[in-house]
Amino acid sequence: MDAYEKLRNELRQKPCRWLVTGVAGFIGSNLLEALLELDQHVIGLDNFSTGFQHNFDQVRQLVGNEQWQRFTFVQGDIRDLATCREVCNGVDFVLHQAALGSVPRSIEDPLLTNENNLSGFLNMLVAARDARVRRFVYAASSSTYGDHPGLPKVEENIGKPLSPYAVTKYVNELYADVFARTYGFQTIGLRYFNIFGRRQDPNGAYAAVMPKWFSALIRGEELFINGDGETSRDFCYIDNCVQANLLAATAANSEALNQVYNVAFGERTSLKGLFALIQERVHRILPGTKKISPTYRDFRAGDVRHSLADISKASRLLGYEPRFSVQDGLDRAAEWYVENLR
Ligand SMILES: NC(=O)c1ccc[n+]([C@@H]2O[C@H](COP(=O)([O-])OP(=O)(O)OC[C@H]3O[C@@H](n4cnc5c(N)ncnc54)[C@H](O)[C@@H]3O)[C@@H](O)[C@H]2O)c1
Repeated sequence: MDAYEKLRNELRQKPCRWLVTGVAGFIGSNLLEALLELDQHVIGLDNFSTGFQHNFDQVRQLVGNEQWQRFTFVQGDIRDLATCREVCNGVDFVLHQAALGSVPRSIEDPLLTNENNLSGFLNMLVAARDARVRRFVYAASSSTYGDHPGLPKVEENIGKPLSPYAVTKYVNELYADVFARTYGFQTIGLRYFNIFGRRQDPNGAYAAVMPKWFSALIRGEELFINGDGETSRDFCYIDNCVQANLLAATAANSEALNQVYNVAFGERTSLKGLFALIQERVHRILPGTKKISPTYRDFRAGDVRHSLADISKASRLLGYEPRFSVQDGLDRAAEWYVENLR
């Protein structure tokens, strides 16, 4: 039995109280689903800025009404300290996901990104510390590697941030580290690398590439590749990300604490390659959809060229073992997008 299976069995025996911020979003709603399936009690906070009620409706349908009773939702904003204090009360573990994603959004409106991702983050740290939460696990980002040319990315070697979004995510790490040193507060940062899967939003100007492409292929709409198609990413299926969060929250090894970890699969896929993999799957499920050729356009400001994670630190200290390859994850994501977007 691996570390994750062991943990899931333990959690089922001993329900804890979890706070998931950003719970109506893509990653937050998947954490909620996994925790409710394990009979945990969950408090969720979200202001619905990029999250949706329909994500809750889907989780409720998946876990059933009885499990759903273990969930308490507070509609509110992490920019409000009193709200953060309210939701942290009596909580064992915080999984902090609330933030405004997207590099381009942060370039267009750095103030808004800063308020949400940095002031909001600090409010959550203060509230969680004062409520004596056992551990604070937060969504960090691979964007922190910035212009560092090394591949694969190892946690200790970072470059300069390439966008306001990356600045906020890096400063989150600095604050978490200072809270660990100054107040003895337990924190763990998870540097997510292009997480994908069910409930990732395909709509809006700041949607991530994968849901956007699924949507365009299913609906027969125009589709763009920014740059020459050789840009590459370490795409990581959502269930691997959920695993990393639960392991980080409960890791007993003191060496594992107050650290940041790459959360990825550990394989690089070019955008061109990704397009082919998605197209193949959509056609397999919907043979009637029309074949589309992508339109190439300029590289996007603030984007890093290549990304690939070394995941050995998370494996060694947390017992992280991603179960879903990119191809397995795409199979599952394709089923979900076809079912939900057609
Ligand atoms: N998806 C990825 O590949 C990826 C990669 C790196 C980092 N991250 C980080 O992971 C976290 C979750 O991302 P996601 O992909 O699920 O995005 P998402 O937009 O689907 O979810 C974010 C959620 O946070 C909520 N939120 C935003 N600002 C808030 C505020 N001020 N108060 C309360 N709620 C607020 C939104 O309404 C939304 O439901 C974010 O911190 C993001 O920066 C994601």
